[in-house]
Amino acid sequence: MDELKSGSHAEDYILVGNEKFIPLLSDEKIQARVKELGGQLTKEYKGKLPIFIGVLNGSFIFLSDLVKNINLKLEIDFFKLSSYGESKISSGKVKMLKELNADINDRHVIIVEDIVDTGLSIKYIEELMESFKPASLKVATLLFKKEALKYDVKIDYIGFEIPNKFVIGYGLDYAQRYRNLRSIYVLNEE
Ligand code: PRP
Repeated sequence: MDELKSGSHAEDYILVGNEKFIPLLSDEKIQARVKELGGQLTKEYKGKLPIFIGVLNGSFIFLSDLVKNINLKLEIDFFKLSSYGESKISSGKVKMLKELNADINDRHVIIVEDIVDTGLSIKYIEELMESFKPASLKVATLLFKKEALKYDVKIDYIGFEIPNKFVIGYGLDYAQRYRNLRSIYVLNEE
């Protein structure tokens, strides 16, 4: 039986079976950083009509909070790539499951990810997006696992650099669960 100790306090933890997840980034810390990023994007895209493209499913919470902190007219769209399934390790393959609705030709595009791990998804996305010839293309990710990066990708906006460990919460799942946690938790490997 899963045990869920509430909220964002440092002493809380989550048990998934016999695996223990401990706090990594609190709700407050995430919200403060998202606000900063929103402020930065507001300045940098002033006078433009950017389109924010969330990569489903993980980015939906970050994207939602981020755009609420951007004081500009903007558009939002989503697409979906194949997932890791229930494994904690990247499969090394990417497949498009839901295509983009918007025409991004000549648009200022910001790709929004919850996490960049090996960089495979972002590499695939960047190449795909470039083929539609946007006016500009940038990438924003809440989390960046620098030590896990295997592909040469350019990330323009990073919320937090985190260790190469499995994390859940704030959009990130374990077998599709725990995305609704307000804070981010890390697998305690001790
Ligand atoms: C996660 C995350 C990124 C990708 C990062 O998605 O949202 O898209 O993995 O890993 P990479 O840098 O090694 O490619 P996932 O496939 O788990 O699907 P989800 O967003 O539906 O959870």
